[in-house]
Amino acid sequence: MKVSGRTKVCAVIGDPVEHSLSPCFQNAAFQHLKLDFIYVAFTVKAESLGDAISGVRSLGIYGLNVTMPHKISVIKYLDELDERADRIKSVNTILNRNGKLIGYTTDGIGVLNALKYNGIDPKGKKVVILGAGGAARSASYALSEVAGELVILNRTIERARNLASKVRRLIGSHVNVKWDGLTEESLRREIREADILINATPVGMSPYVNGTLVEKRLLHPDMVVFDMIYHPLKTRLLREAEEVGAKTINGLSMLIHQGAASFEIWTGMEAPIDIMMKAAEEEIRRREGI
Ligand SMILES: NC(=O)c1ccc[n+]([C@@H]2O[C@H](COP(=O)([O-])OP(=O)(O)OC[C@H]3O[C@@H](n4cnc5c(N)ncnc54)[C@H](OP(=O)(O)O)[C@@H]3O)[C@@H](O)[C@H]2O)c1
Repeated sequence: MKVSGRTKVCAVIGDPVEHSLSPCFQNAAFQHLKLDFIYVAFTVKAESLGDAISGVRSLGIYGLNVTMPHKISVIKYLDELDERADRIKSVNTILNRNGKLIGYTTDGIGVLNALKYNGIDPKGKKVVILGAGGAARSASYALSEVAGELVILNRTIERARNLASKVRRLIGSHVNVKWDGLTEESLRREIREADILINATPVGMSPYVNGTLVEKRLLHPDMVVFDMIYHPLKTRLLREAEEVGAKTINGLSMLIHQGAASFEIWTGMEAPIDIMMKAAEEEIRRREGI
């Protein structure tokens, strides 16, 4: 990689970001297409966000990814939001167009494109989402535009209810959105006829690597199981889903597809998905010591 005085700088900001995979797969994509871009990571504390965005302007940083905890709070520092980011009030990508900072969200696109990449069309399907945090929110908003039925199950029942009512308010009443607590009974009832099950909780990753929220006997071969976790690449949920004959998708596709959409916003070029995926997989395997 040759860095010169003209190299365009992109970065991810968040706290923490030291373990982010984005520098690895975004730089792989820039290099593959021989683009004069470089991608780095900056730890930005919540109280320094305004200063960091001023820095983006004064240093002419070209593009940003924004991760936790800044996806909502960054909005007040931007000049413009695209329609989707404005609607869901969340930004994970910023483009610096001649000094004007424009905010986008590609999280939902990441979920939809991850399904598409794996040959799954969620149109009219029953989707069950476990969790009601940031990742569940992106998935719910995106899927509610296409799914036939959306069920949000969460440990803290009020958060499931709040998310369901936000989705209904945003998308309109035509979509059937249900919510409940995350219990053995609700899982059994909802998974029985689910086409797609999405785990949007950290259960299955460190320190819960041997954990799963769904007993194997509740899974069935006619479903797709999508675990948003990508470290490890194969969680216990995915392993057991595979054992019952269900189709499985890990969180890496989602991560890469949201990053690919950011890449396309910054460069205006089609992202080399396979190159990005390979770079990220190699990095995860390296970290897992495989
Ligand atoms: N693949 C990707 O690109 C991508 C992107 C974003 C996130 N993720 C993954 O998605 C997961 C969630 O991230 P997030 O940003 O949404 O986190 P978050 O905002 O902190 O939300 C966490 C959610 O998980 C639930 N939860 C946590 N521990 C639990 C447990 N022991 N049992 C049952 N439920 C539990 C929480 O329930 P309560 O409301 O009851 O606390 C909450 O709904 C993480 O594993 C993250 O790595 C992946």
